[in-house]
Amino acid sequence: MNQETIKKLLGPHKTVAVTGAQWGDEGKGKIVDLLSQEAEIVARGTGGANAGHTILVGDEKLILHLVPSGIRRDNDGVTTICGNGMVVDPFALIKELKMLEEKGVSYNRLNLAYNASLIIPLHILTDQLRERQAGNGKIGTTGRGIGPAYTDKVARIGLIVNDMLNPDTFVEKLRKNTAEHMRRIGSFPKETVDELRTKLFPHLAQSDDEVFNFDAVVETYLGYGRELSPLIVDTDRLMWECVGKRRILLEGAQGQLLSVESGTYPYVTSSDSSVAGLARGVGLKEGDIDYSIAVTKAFYMTRVGTGPFPTELGGSESDEWCNNPSVTRKEDEDSRQDASVNSADEFVQGVGIRIAGNEYGSTTLRPRRVGWLDLPMLRYTQARTGGVLALTLLDVLDGCEVIKLCTGYEYAGPDYRVGNQTYSAGVRIETPIMEETILRNCKPIYQEFPGWLQPIGHLTEQSQLPQELMTIIRFVEAQTDARVALVSVGPERDQTILWQ
Ligand code: IMP
Ligand code: MG
Repeated sequence: MNQETIKKLLGPHKTVAVTGAQWGDEGKGKIVDLLSQEAEIVARGTGGANAGHTILVGDEKLILHLVPSGIRRDNDGVTTICGNGMVVDPFALIKELKMLEEKGVSYNRLNLAYNASLIIPLHILTDQLRERQAGNGKIGTTGRGIGPAYTDKVARIGLIVNDMLNPDTFVEKLRKNTAEHMRRIGSFPKETVDELRTKLFPHLAQSDDEVFNFDAVVETYLGYGRELSPLIVDTDRLMWECVGKRRILLEGAQGQLLSVESGTYPYVTSSDSSVAGLARGVGLKEGDIDYSIAVTKAFYMTRVGTGPFPTELGGSESDEWCNNPSVTRKEDEDSRQDASVNSADEFVQGVGIRIAGNEYGSTTLRPRRVGWLDLPMLRYTQARTGGVLALTLLDVLDGCEVIKLCTGYEYAGPDYRVGNQTYSAGVRIETPIMEETILRNCKPIYQEFPGWLQPIGHLTEQSQLPQELMTIIRFVEAQTDARVALVSVGPERDQTILWQ
């Protein structure tokens, strides 16, 4: 896709939002990187180092966790922003900046919100302690401290990035914050706390009475503050000065179904990963957004971590397998040597699609759970946020003989009340409600389509796409009342087709 086509796609729109319509890993990084060729500012507003955005340009592969995907265009004058809605682990950020330096990617125009929340070691420890102790109730978090950092923010005891620049404030706030955390950590078994704190932060864990050596944490963080200080600014003001005047790309993290406001609660991340949350996370209003692109894998989808996934191939067997910490990528790949996108057994077909799509977490390396595209879920996210769709990863299903699309669910659980409505077995659901008991008991209803058998990665125009593929895209549009605008047929920038 060339610059002219991108210009055509974005038209006169100044503020463009790119969010994920599913449970993350939809390929937002690639779309943002592509569109950043026509942007002046690229800003992230939610999440933290739980995100993993992979960008491929030529032989170069960049995996970004905190830095916006527009960073590759830093040299061309693009400003990048980590907004106030983010939770920033300064250690992870510095590591990422070093990685960029090694790859020769400059970050002279990267800005970090002074008022973004700060992740401290206690957040990472608490995140992992909770998951360890949660048994079957675990969320399957990335263990990066995201939940506890947002919890502190809402509890009004959190630190912000700017605190690292003011030693007295930092010490005072950290003391208050630590006192709160110590009360909670007291409820976890001491051996587990000891094991995790020494594993995670060996250099900070030399204290017996406190979980971490307070002075060492202060010193470490003030050091991070000195390193990051050139980047720290009031990014809200920067956004206000630019909105409506310069082309701004807002980069979502995670996916809308992982939003704490509107996702499959409680199996969500702790930020609002919807369009509204994204706008607020960079100091803007939702109404400032002129054009919204919802990125959607097609015609399969993935989920990392636990939580309902009605169309999952292999159902609970797949859920358990992918969420078993001892199942590595190698073990997954070796487990079913014969797995392919056409395997007759559903679980094995899931493994086949996972391997074909390289569906292993870019942050945690976990095997991602795989299932067919869920149109009810897409109707739900479209109803909340609208926007045009970008379909990604289409080449993964090259050669897949039968493609199944979930068009609705049949409720198959016990009578269950939601508000003034009782769901009973046999009820058909077109657009789901984000209620765990309901979602866990939804049986997908599928419509089958013949797949395309030839590879599509080299195609550049809509008219070249196989008939079978076009038929399915039109079906998705009709079923979700959404317009498809982009079709991605491979990881490279060039492998993107404008759909009209
Ligand atoms: P947390 O964000 O680490 O608290 O994890 C909460 C849930 O969100 C878990 O199911 C994670 O697997 C999921 N999650 C968080 N970030 C991402 C992401 O970038 N891609 C996919 N899943 C994510
Ligand atoms: Mg990802």
